[in-house]
Amino acid sequence: MENLTEDNLEDAVLERLNCESERDHEILSKFIKHIHAFIKDLEPTEEEWSKAIEFLTRTGQTCNDKRQEFILLSDVLGVSMLVDAINHRTKKDVTETTVTGPFHTSAMNFEMGANIARGEEGKRGEPTVVRGKILDESNKPIANAVIDVWQSDDIGYYDIQDVNQPEMNLRGVFKTDETGEFWFKTIKPAAYPVPTDGPVGELLRASGRQPMRPAHIHFWIKADGYQQLITHLFVEGDDHLDSDAVFGVKESLILDFKLNHGTEDADQWQVGSPFYEVVYDFKLAKLET
Ligand code: BEZ
Ligand code: FE
Repeated sequence: MENLTEDNLEDAVLERLNCESERDHEILSKFIKHIHAFIKDLEPTEEEWSKAIEFLTRTGQTCNDKRQEFILLSDVLGVSMLVDAINHRTKKDVTETTVTGPFHTSAMNFEMGANIARGEEGKRGEPTVVRGKILDESNKPIANAVIDVWQSDDIGYYDIQDVNQPEMNLRGVFKTDETGEFWFKTIKPAAYPVPTDGPVGELLRASGRQPMRPAHIHFWIKADGYQQLITHLFVEGDDHLDSDAVFGVKESLILDFKLNHGTEDADQWQVGSPFYEVVYDFKLAKLET
């Protein structure tokens, strides 16, 4: 029997791999190689390694049906955006993607034009109309596209973070007809800090990093025959566009939320005047067959 040492432990672990699937083998062997290389490079003390395990344990314990601390960890380390970049490399004429984040939950179906802002937030926030089309790469409208929308309120809280908001507030699901058009009413979202009261907050503080995300609205768009699109529309002029805590901002997704004083326009969209108006056509990539 050979004694296991710093020099041969990695090989001993790799030799025991006996995966049925090739991809599982690749994933596990690369993970083992990278983590052994990391430890050999870092040479942590036993206390440091226990602290790392305790951090990951608390990250898991912080997760529940309303909170996903592991997604947040992946987001603030830039890993979510790296996975996003790798998986959307060559899409020129389609809308760019960005992080899903931890705040997506199921929402009600609405008729086109509905207001997703309810409760106090709906009364207090600045009225906003979001509209545009769902198109394919050659600008043809896509019918029956399902548009799942979610956003923070005017002071930066999602419904699932705030017991005072009505359930499913500021989120909704819409379906396009053959025109591919969509429009809905909401309030202007606010910038907000990612949750900092858990392990990821500790990590940000230990790193000397700020926790803010620039104001945005999330979209998750699905249509038969097309790749799903997960993205945001960001509010132009936000102070945090250059320092997003999760590295999710892309130039093409920053939009002018234009203040519209026209009373006729307000009547057309059935909102108070003035209101913010944001217009964007989403372009979906065909599913590769
Ligand atoms: C969000 O935009 O909802 C979000 C994304 C990543 C981390 C935290 C929040
Ligand atoms: Fe968000």
